[in-house]
Amino acid sequence: METKIIKINENKIDPDRIRAAAEVIKGGGLVAFPTETVYGLGASALDGDAAAKIYAAKGRPSDNPLIVHIAAKENIEKYARNISDTARKLIDAFMPGPFTIILEKKDIIPDTVTAGMNTVGLRCPINAVANALIKTAAVAIAAPSANISGKPSPTEGRHVIHDMKGRIDCIIDGGSCEVGVESTIVDATGEIPVLLRPGGITVGMLRSICPELEIDKNVSVPLNENEHPKCPGMKYKHYSPDAEVIVVEGSKDNVTAKIKELLAADMSITSGVITIYGANYDNAVMIDGGKDNREYAKNLFAALRSFDDLRVKRIFAEFHDGDEFALAVKNRLYRAAGYNILHVGN
Ligand code: TXA
Ligand code: MG
Repeated sequence: METKIIKINENKIDPDRIRAAAEVIKGGGLVAFPTETVYGLGASALDGDAAAKIYAAKGRPSDNPLIVHIAAKENIEKYARNISDTARKLIDAFMPGPFTIILEKKDIIPDTVTAGMNTVGLRCPINAVANALIKTAAVAIAAPSANISGKPSPTEGRHVIHDMKGRIDCIIDGGSCEVGVESTIVDATGEIPVLLRPGGITVGMLRSICPELEIDKNVSVPLNENEHPKCPGMKYKHYSPDAEVIVVEGSKDNVTAKIKELLAADMSITSGVITIYGANYDNAVMIDGGKDNREYAKNLFAALRSFDDLRVKRIFAEFHDGDEFALAVKNRLYRAAGYNILHVGN
């Protein structure tokens, strides 16, 4: 399949280019588009056949539901029912933005989109390209992250081109994503809202609106075998580059000493390090993770993909807990590493 690549500048949106992409959505095709979190792979959320093509293009398991993207928070009423007062407060506080709310779904959403679940994840992106695309298509857009299933989510147009060129109708290249990790997901179907996936809207921000918010335990620890997660995506391998990832977590001195020791122990493997402490490693490719976990979140997926491009076989990821974005970074990093974590002390 020939994939049309359309460049759109978020700060100077060309309506003709948006219209061309919106026509593809209206015609039942697939369009990858930028959002403030990661790139999405979109199809009309009201067209089950179009949504089915998303699973095929990504190689996504058919029991993993898609998030439905809307142009304005008021549109939530069209797709969800039994919206509690707490859910409404969260919606008012965090939409538009990097936030997804799980609610009971209305029948208008086809089962293919929600993988047969009776709930739906709704998100209203703040990214101007995403918003213009949804508005111009005049329909909600179902979209998972635009990567091949299991790979790091795409945060730049070239990542999507790498994974999806030849598999989908159209890719909008809108530059790099601001947040860099996927949206915060809150399940608001029960009495007490539960955080299912951490992201740019932090626990502190959520609890300022909803102090009783709970955090699902699988946000930071792996699922047990045979356990059914609330968020089906939790049970699948995630964010994995071709290289092996090892998280080294702790203070500057302990982390750098440990990585130096491990590098020296086996010099035959091409190694990379995501650095946060500014240390210098001989015999390793280094990529800067950033000065804090907000920057780390923005850089992480691009770093994992760059190491694959450089044929790195083993990645040490420096990590330090302790700021409000740590939970979002940790959640991705631990999964990317298959929970291979060295705690070396603070
Ligand atoms: O930031 C984001 O959320 C990006 C952009 C494109 O919007 N999208 C994204 O989609 O990350 P995806 O499919 O890669 O991750 C969605 C996660 C999956 O783990 C899925 O299982 C979960 O959300 N999910 C979707 N609908 C759900 C539902 N009704 N109940 C529970 N979990 C749901
Ligand atoms: Mg994904």
